[in-house]
Amino acid sequence: MKIDIHCHLLPGLDDGPAKRSTSLAMARAAVADGREVVVATPHYWPDHWTPSPDRVRETLRELQAALDEAVVPLRLLAGHEVRLAPQVPDWIGEGKVLTLADAGRLVLLELPPQEWPIFTEHVCYRLRQLGITPVIAHPERNDLVVRDLRRLSALEEAGCLLQVNAGSLTGRAGRAVQRTAKRLCRQGRVRFVASDGHDLGRRPMELSLAYRMAQRLGGQGWESAGFEVIGGTARTGPPG
Ligand SMILES: [Fe+2]
Repeated sequence: MKIDIHCHLLPGLDDGPAKRSTSLAMARAAVADGREVVVATPHYWPDHWTPSPDRVRETLRELQAALDEAVVPLRLLAGHEVRLAPQVPDWIGEGKVLTLADAGRLVLLELPPQEWPIFTEHVCYRLRQLGITPVIAHPERNDLVVRDLRRLSALEEAGCLLQVNAGSLTGRAGRAVQRTAKRLCRQGRVRFVASDGHDLGRRPMELSLAYRMAQRLGGQGWESAGFEVIGGTARTGPPG
């Protein structure tokens, strides 16, 4: 399955699309770009956005119904993009945040862009102890990683997986971020390339271009990378 594991596709939950019509347009763009499955990952970031799992699931059900009615062949799965905080393992235990595909195996974890909190590694170790693998969202956008890729080593040794943004590879986030994303791909350290799409303008659905770039840098099978890893197999099949 050709999958995008990180996308702000659901309307009205975070800084993604405000209206369902925009979500539908994004979904059509994703299908036109070759996607079959999108994991909808609204932000979970206290003081900004905290959509509950039930609200995410309900919004997803409504959007999936609208897609099915419009005959847009895209399967949606639920998730969150969880902002790094000491409480993340507790949030998961308490059911406050969704794992990727709601499958209880991986959590999409977002680091702050300009700092490296002292609890970063500890949170990841605790998650691994709970049997949850952190997927680090766009590490190439973190200033300290841009300066020194070794910053990620302890997380990788702990079993964390790295997810690079399509727009980072294509240059939308600037040259330093692009250079960092390319280096990570070249070194074989990237598990997922994802859109991190928010709308049709700022961060559009341009995954296939990024996949081709990642493929040239090393690695195959980006289009379907991780579908089994996220635990999505049980949720495939025709809509309904
Ligand atoms: Fe995101």
